[in-house]
Amino acid sequence: MGKIKRIGVLTSGGDAPGMNAAIRAVTRTAIYYDLEVLGIRHGYRGMIEGYCKPLKVHTVSNIIQRGGTILKTARCEEFKIPEGRKRAYDYLKRRNIDGVVVIGGDGTFTGARVFSEEFDIPFIGIPGTIDNDIYGTDYTIGYDTALNTVIEAVDKIRDTASAHNRLFFIEVMGAEAGFIALRSGIACGAEAILIPEVKNQVSTLKDFLENGDRRKKSSNIIIVAEGEEEGGAYEIARKVKNDFKDYSIRVTVLGHIQRGGSPTAFDRVAASRLGYAAVEALLDDQKSAMVGLQNNNVVLVPFRKAVKLHKDVNRQLLEISQILSI
Ligand code: F6P
Repeated sequence: MGKIKRIGVLTSGGDAPGMNAAIRAVTRTAIYYDLEVLGIRHGYRGMIEGYCKPLKVHTVSNIIQRGGTILKTARCEEFKIPEGRKRAYDYLKRRNIDGVVVIGGDGTFTGARVFSEEFDIPFIGIPGTIDNDIYGTDYTIGYDTALNTVIEAVDKIRDTASAHNRLFFIEVMGAEAGFIALRSGIACGAEAILIPEVKNQVSTLKDFLENGDRRKKSSNIIIVAEGEEEGGAYEIARKVKNDFKDYSIRVTVLGHIQRGGSPTAFDRVAASRLGYAAVEALLDDQKSAMVGLQNNNVVLVPFRKAVKLHKDVNRQLLEISQILSI
């Protein structure tokens, strides 16, 4: 210990419930170890433009239960170019920041990885995105809360779908991945789940509906991940309507409601564990790595792997969802 005296912490990319809990854990662990903490505002943009404020024990009081991020977030184009990163480095040097904890997803870690190759300030990442699409961690902060938000909404839609004998297409977030769709779909007993990881799903869906029709199934909930290859819930609904003219079809896009709200117990505890682990990692001279959860243990995964390798959905869950919706 001794090399690191002052750290920075920032949130970047899409916000996720539990980011505040992670900021709190980073801040309080650092202060426990006699480090100073600077909160960098607006993600990497704050590192370039110099938006930051000291974080104290009391600054992070009363935030563990709040969605969003007290540090604000952004997607920063300038950090993608060498000049932008150099400006960020100069700022960190000027403020005597010896290490940085970045909380975010894929794009955040890609930037952190490049920066770590160019400069000598260590970066440690905490996975925070509702999409859960980061290799090397079983869960990302915010995913569990988003799932619960989806479930609450779909349960309500199920009531009206059933009352009117309707077919509902419900679009959930997941521009690149079907983690939210798959798990929430199982939890809601969805009749079908369409995700980007599976191709040509519309013809399978039509066969499925045909069978349901024969069995006199009166209502259906189909969960569609926004990144689904056929073009999202509206497009799929249009294609299905062509073949099932008698169906009363409705589409609901849940949208950004999934990104907000008070984090669940799971996300608060995960954020607290990972925030603590990130500071420990900096003190242990680690750099260019993400702290993650594997089999309920905290692990360190190099950014190199976290951003390069693809995390696949659990294919068995897909099979289970099909079996359970017969
Ligand atoms: O946070 C991840 C994510 O929710 C994606 O699933 C989604 O496509 C994207 O963010 C949308 O974010 P924004 O509206 O901020 O561009």
